[in-house]
Amino acid sequence: MFGVRCLRLVLRHCSSAVLPKHAVAAKLLRVQEALEVQNPTNMDVKVQGWVRSVRSQKEILFLHVNDGSSLESLQVVADTGLEPRDLAFGSSVEVQGKLIKSPYQRQNVELVADSIRVVGTCDVVAFPVKYKTRQTLDYLRQFPHLRCRSNTLSALLRIRSEATAAIHAFFKDHGYLHVHTPIITSNDCEGAGEVFQLKPATKDADSEENPHFFNVPAFLTVSGQLHLEAITGAFTKAFTFGPTFRAENSHSRRHLSEFYMVEAEFAFVDSLQEIMQVMEDLFKKVTGTVLSKCLHDVGLFHKHVAPGQEGKLEHILKSRFITMSYSEAIEILKRAPHVFTYKPEWGLDLQREHEKYLVEHCGEIPVFVFNYPYDLKPFYMRDNEDGPRHTVAAVDLLVPDIGELCGGSLREDRLDLLQSRLRRMGQEDNYQWYLELRQFGSTPHGGFGMGFERYLQCILGVESIKDVIPFPRSSHSCVL
Ligand code: 4AD
Ligand code: MG
Repeated sequence: MFGVRCLRLVLRHCSSAVLPKHAVAAKLLRVQEALEVQNPTNMDVKVQGWVRSVRSQKEILFLHVNDGSSLESLQVVADTGLEPRDLAFGSSVEVQGKLIKSPYQRQNVELVADSIRVVGTCDVVAFPVKYKTRQTLDYLRQFPHLRCRSNTLSALLRIRSEATAAIHAFFKDHGYLHVHTPIITSNDCEGAGEVFQLKPATKDADSEENPHFFNVPAFLTVSGQLHLEAITGAFTKAFTFGPTFRAENSHSRRHLSEFYMVEAEFAFVDSLQEIMQVMEDLFKKVTGTVLSKCLHDVGLFHKHVAPGQEGKLEHILKSRFITMSYSEAIEILKRAPHVFTYKPEWGLDLQREHEKYLVEHCGEIPVFVFNYPYDLKPFYMRDNEDGPRHTVAAVDLLVPDIGELCGGSLREDRLDLLQSRLRRMGQEDNYQWYLELRQFGSTPHGGFGMGFERYLQCILGVESIKDVIPFPRSSHSCVL
């Protein structure tokens, strides 16, 4: 075992004997880069970060410094004489010294400090984030401005960032164009009236003759789909991935007022099967990438936040997703030896309890439910013209514990049917541009949207959607 005396020798050796102090400019390394150095032969480095622990042992000071680049922190060893007076856990520091092979088995390298500078002090007593005890997500949610300093939230943010990159890579590799669809829009794509209307805060921006800043009522987008459809009039495959907004007064663990949606749209597609295949491929490919790139971060969730989730996810990834029609789903629910709060009935929406039962019934494997009643779904979905139980070519992907993860459909590409539906809704004038898409070189087309936060909940096993987004917004809550 490496004793204190021996460590002192290392400190002396590294800090004075090897090189004159200013001979080599120290290289600024991120903690993750430092941890990955294979052959650390007294490399002069500088690390910036936040102190996760401070421990003084006789003449040796041990620090753990983290800069968000990795779950693991870098161990710094120093002569206690180098300890700044205001060094404390939580403070921001800059440490300069030599990277050496660590004598401990737990880590490959450690930094023997030449200097430690406290950049910002930390009031340890008042600081709500602690590292020795694991704090619950419920507790951390009270501090949206500070919780990214906890291991759990910093792991989540790294996973979120990798998953975002993996989604972009998936679509790029499959030949999709990435499009920035607008955040401000004059339509309510889903037609559910769940839009936030936009108005200038200053009165003078509106005038009496023209009460609308944009001349028409404008909203925060609920979906980029209609704009993506315009793009697939010229590009066969396109996707968008951005914030979407819903004014739903819901307090469920699966709803936010602002969430991120991945939306894909493809031209020359006339079967729901093709859309389902892209959803399944996207889920599996992105999850595979996240699991390999964020092994330790995902491990933290699977070990401490949702024990059992790792096995559930493995089961999902190795299974073929199941498909069933809405009518079959209703039959299964009606036969269920289970008393539902909402009686399942053809023509009524599937409730959370129904979705949960269907996934359980399918052995906790994701299930595609397709061909929903015409009257339940938005105007843009393709009419199956199959009365008396009239359906549209819609598909939802239901996943364990979460319920609906993706929603998609074939779009109504027949001008006459679309026009008469919009006319019945009194919306023909508002959607002239949308009708024109069917007039000028239209194609059979379709697409889907996947809720990004629900996706993260699904792979990590996080109960509340508020814990998978940095700054959650929901009804009656917009902190910061
Ligand atoms: O099913 P939705 O409403 O579908 C659409 O918006 C389509 N226009 C998408 C498309 O075809 N391009 O929403 C898609 C997904 C849902 O399945 C769900 O995962 C997520 O978005 N979602 C929400 N996530 C968090 N909070 C909310 N309030 C959400 N509403 C929908
Ligand atoms: Mg939906």
